[in-house]
Amino acid sequence: MIHNRVKSLTNSPLSPRLADALTVISRSVNAELDRLLPVPESADARVHEAMRYATLDGGKRLRPFLVMQSASLFNVAETAAIRVACAIEMVHCYSLVHDDLPCMDDDDLRRGRPTCHKKFDEATALLAGDALLTKAFEVLANPATHSDPAVRCDLVADLAHASGGQGMVGGQMIDLQAHTLDLDVAGITRLQQLKTGRLFSFSCEAGAVLGKAHGELRLALRNYAHDLGLAFQIADDILDVEGDAAEVGKAVQKDADAGKATFVSLLGLDRAKAQAAMLADQACRHLDPFGDKADLMRDVARYVVQRRS
Ligand code: IPE
Ligand code: IPE
Ligand code: MG
Ligand code: MG
Ligand code: MG
Repeated sequence: MIHNRVKSLTNSPLSPRLADALTVISRSVNAELDRLLPVPESADARVHEAMRYATLDGGKRLRPFLVMQSASLFNVAETAAIRVACAIEMVHCYSLVHDDLPCMDDDDLRRGRPTCHKKFDEATALLAGDALLTKAFEVLANPATHSDPAVRCDLVADLAHASGGQGMVGGQMIDLQAHTLDLDVAGITRLQQLKTGRLFSFSCEAGAVLGKAHGELRLALRNYAHDLGLAFQIADDILDVEGDAAEVGKAVQKDADAGKATFVSLLGLDRAKAQAAMLADQACRHLDPFGDKADLMRDVARYVVQRRS
């Protein structure tokens, strides 16, 4: 039932091996999401259509990629990791559906297509987001994700914490008030860590949870995710200023129009770019304990600060 394209990555500043790996993972994630999401066939079909619309087509699939890569560091079975990869992508897609609503960023374009509420309607988009969020936890809690109930519980608790009021939702709350808060660099850093960083952290640490790894290796992944998430969000803010809507696949110039403080508004473009590059280098260094096995994760860190979409 897959009727969607895998996003073309050929124009992006990607190393060939990262482009290949992202394409492979995008295909696997699409296929697994297609299996996991209900087929629209009964009276509630419209919400399932909207869930599929919001998840199945496009997106860079960075968070699923990070789950799969971190899982491979601990030799976790791909059949388990792909379910966690889909769960985090469901939460991410829900966050985008709600972020685009008129009561939040009021955007018409997402991943190069009409936003969910434009394609359907606001109430359907709201419900599709709700259902994607809850579906993610259903997927994690299923024994197919891990044979050990304690691991499944940890995944559920970690994703709840990363997504909720002290995670992504909390960051979105601060973001909506950013134009009134007079945030300094420390305040923006906190906002970005919550809004964007926490889902990246979940993705990077998921492999360690699945592989029951603790201590230094898990900490190394947490530190990598911290710097990667910040670098990623600075790049998003730079794209909002410098990007081209057709290439980025979403509206640009939104942050300045909304009077929102970002790293770019506080530091200026050049220093924001230097900060993002420094964070990407620092992220790579955190991966030293994994040696060559983490090369694709290093490639991702370099890619996120050079990307054009
Ligand atoms: C967009 O995330 C939302 C932010 C956290 C800035 P992505 O840039 O990863 O969006 P997709 O999944 O590729 O569309
Ligand atoms: C939204 O941040 C991030 C989340 C959905 C949590 P933005 O509002 O900057 O994301 P874009 O630019 O619309 O993708
Ligand atoms: Mg927003
Ligand atoms: Mg937005
Ligand atoms: Mg943005």
